Formats: sequence, C-alpha cells, structure tokens
Amino acid sequence: MSAHLLIRQATVLIDRAFQVSDVLVQDGKIAQVAPEIAIDSDTPVIDATGLTLLPGVIDPQVHFREPGLEYKEDLFTASCACAKGGVTSFLEMPNTKPLTTTQEMLNDKLDRASQKCLVNYGFFIGATAENLPDLETANPTCGIKIFMGSMHGALLVDQESALERIFASGRRLIAVHAEDQARIRARREQFAGITDPAVHSQIQDNQAALNATQLALKLSKKYQRRLHILHLSTGEEAELLRHDKPVWVTAEVTPQHLVLNTSAYETIGTFAQMNPPLRSPQDNEILWNALRDGVIDFIATDHAPHTIEEKAQGYPNTPSGMPGVETSLPIMLTQAKQGKCTVEQVANWMSTAVAKAYKIPNKGIIAPGYDADLVLVDLDTYKPVLREELQTKCGWSPFEGWNLTGWPVVTIVGGQVVFDRGKLHTDVRGKALSFG
Ligand code: DOR
Repeated sequence: MSAHLLIRQATVLIDRAFQVSDVLVQDGKIAQVAPEIAIDSDTPVIDATGLTLLPGVIDPQVHFREPGLEYKEDLFTASCACAKGGVTSFLEMPNTKPLTTTQEMLNDKLDRASQKCLVNYGFFIGATAENLPDLETANPTCGIKIFMGSMHGALLVDQESALERIFASGRRLIAVHAEDQARIRARREQFAGITDPAVHSQIQDNQAALNATQLALKLSKKYQRRLHILHLSTGEEAELLRHDKPVWVTAEVTPQHLVLNTSAYETIGTFAQMNPPLRSPQDNEILWNALRDGVIDFIATDHAPHTIEEKAQGYPNTPSGMPGVETSLPIMLTQAKQGKCTVEQVANWMSTAVAKAYKIPNKGIIAPGYDADLVLVDLDTYKPVLREELQTKCGWSPFEGWNLTGWPVVTIVGGQVVFDRGKLHTDVRGKALSFG
C-alpha cells in the first residue's frame, strides 16, 4: 500500500464552505489541500471530479454484538457495513456477552477489533451498580454507558442512589440511555396482551424518556458531571434542554428519530421497534429544530442489529433495535438535498461535532495534519436501499426501498482506501481511537 494518495478535483468541505480542490494524503494524514497539487508519477490518484469530499463519519453509538452475539453481527461484518456507509470510526456499546464492564473485557474487545475492524474503533465501559472502580480506571474508553432503562441484568442501573454514586465519583463522560424503567414496567402491565407493535411507543412513552432525562440532568448539574444524552427521542426532552443545558451537557439524535415515526409500524411492523421508541411526526419536527439550533449536538445511528427471524417473532417477543451504519450518511444527505439542512451541517453533526465532544484528536476536519479519514460522496445520483447489497449480517434495513442520494463512492481510513466504487478492501485495518 502506497503511503501517498492524491484525491483530485473533489468538492471539498474546507472551513465550513465547499471548494473544488486537490487533497494530498501522506502516511495516513492529510498533507496538503490546494486547488492544484503537483505529484510524482507513481502517486496513486483518485479522480473525484463531480464528487464531494467530507470528513469520515464518526458514529458515536453502535451495538456490534461481539463477543457473544455474533449470530446477529460481528466486528468484521459491522465494520464492512461502516466502510460502505462512509463511517470511518465508531464508538461501541457494552451490552455484549460478556458485558464490557471491566478492563479485561475492554482489552478483549480492543484486541478483537485490532484483528477484524476495517475502520477505527472505541468502546464504552458499561456501568453496573457495583463496578465504580472500573469505571474510573478502564482505559482507553470514550466514556461510561449507563442504561437507566430498557435493559435487564447487571447493566440496568435504575436506582437513583446507584446513579448518584456514579455521577458523584470521577470525572469522565457519562452517556445515558434515558428511559424510566419503573414507568415502563408499570405500563407494560397496563398494556399486556396487546400484540400490535405500535403499543411499544405507548408503553415506553415520551414521559418515560423525559423522567429519566430530567433525573440525569439533575445529577449532572449537582456534580457538574460531563453528561451525554444518547438518542434523544422526544420533543419534551428537546424543549427541556433548550431551556436548561449546561455547557458540559451534550445530546444526540438518530436518523430514525428524525425521519421515521409511529406510522412506520404500519409499513414495517416490529422492524420499526427500537428503544427509545419511534415517536410522532410532531416529535420529528421538534427534534429537527433542536438539531438545527444546536440544542442537539450530533447524530448517532444506534446500529442495533437483530436477525430477521428474531424480528419476525411478533410483539412483544421481538427484540428492539435496527441497523443503521450503512444508510445514515445517505439518509442525512438526502434530507439535506430536500432542504431540511445543509450538507455542511450533516458533516458537522456526523463527524466534526462528534470528534469535539469525545475529544478525539485529529479527526472530523479536512485540513493539513488531520487524519486522512475521508468519504467521497455522490450528491447527484439516486439509488434505492437494496437488501441484497447490505453488508450488515442481520441482512435488513428499515429503509429498504428508500431512494437516496449521497451514497459513499470511496471511503478512506487512515489514508487507506477501504471502499471503492462498490468494492470493499477487507485487508485494511483501522486503529484504536484515543480520547483527550
Ligand atoms: O433499540 C435498542 N436496541 N436500543 C438500545 O439501546 C439497545 C439496542 C440493542 O442492543 O439491541
């Protein structure tokens, strides 16, 4: 593999504006960005005329199922899906088997990823009611994940006293899945026997999400603790943060919570089931406004694959979650084309702002000295999401049949071409991310 690479005549996002430019990559980094760069005859060239160059997507919430649940997905198949989707780095969640709640399990994931991952990787450490010491010392990690609800077993931390102990000790980022487990439990009984999957959004309702977000915010304010609210899903939570968001708090939204709502149960049934659930069209609009206004900081997919057989079992026996890494960028760029936002905002929400929030050095910006994690997209061609083209092991997408633009043409990880016009280069390996 050559240490040099020239991307010629791409429309490049430079300093928040687009300019047609050459980009020279050297030893895994961006070496030069200029209108025309002279090169040696042996430097490989990617002709990017008519294509747009964006910083590679950093997906800050994914569930890649390894170890223990590889029948749904594994780090190799998931990272192939990332490469195809323009995702050059990901932050992965601890609800694997065994759980990622100790240094030993974190090391195991890092080791597996170094052998199998086509893109860069980072892992959360999962909080239990008992592993306070691990939460502060585990390294490297992007932060502590707390499931306040929608979880069972050791990873469910739903008692305020246990939550307060975690918020009170240490300084590193706490990311919360904010749903009120007590309310969910009570409503599950109230709605027992209903098999229409649409009831999922009623059981785990807006109030359940709001209660937990309020509690996390209260504890974060009490201890001035760095808090990140994962997959914010309701208008109520967005309005809460609009009026009360300390500078040390960030929030994310998924593409699904922006472009899907409860009407999806009518078309794709339990394949629309996720936690927190899909909400109303009004919630979609309030979330869009919050994202555009900076109340919500960035986007994550919550890629959570389950097999078609599992998803077809019938509610309430179906698991929650849907895949997302290979469709998130075209979904958002199609929204940009439709006028919901700008391409520059998409690049910020899916890369620059994530690198900033998680203090990932040298990523998320196209400028000399930054890592050459890049994606070239085609903003003119429309192509449908097709099941047979999916790389995720689960083999389905909630967006099948959607006609999208902004599909990645070439994805580059650390200066290496990992996806090129439909072909994956499966010999490429990403690196462990570091967190400043
Ligand atoms: O829908 C979801 N599925 N939400 C989560 O937070 C967990 C995920 C999973 O792991 O399946």
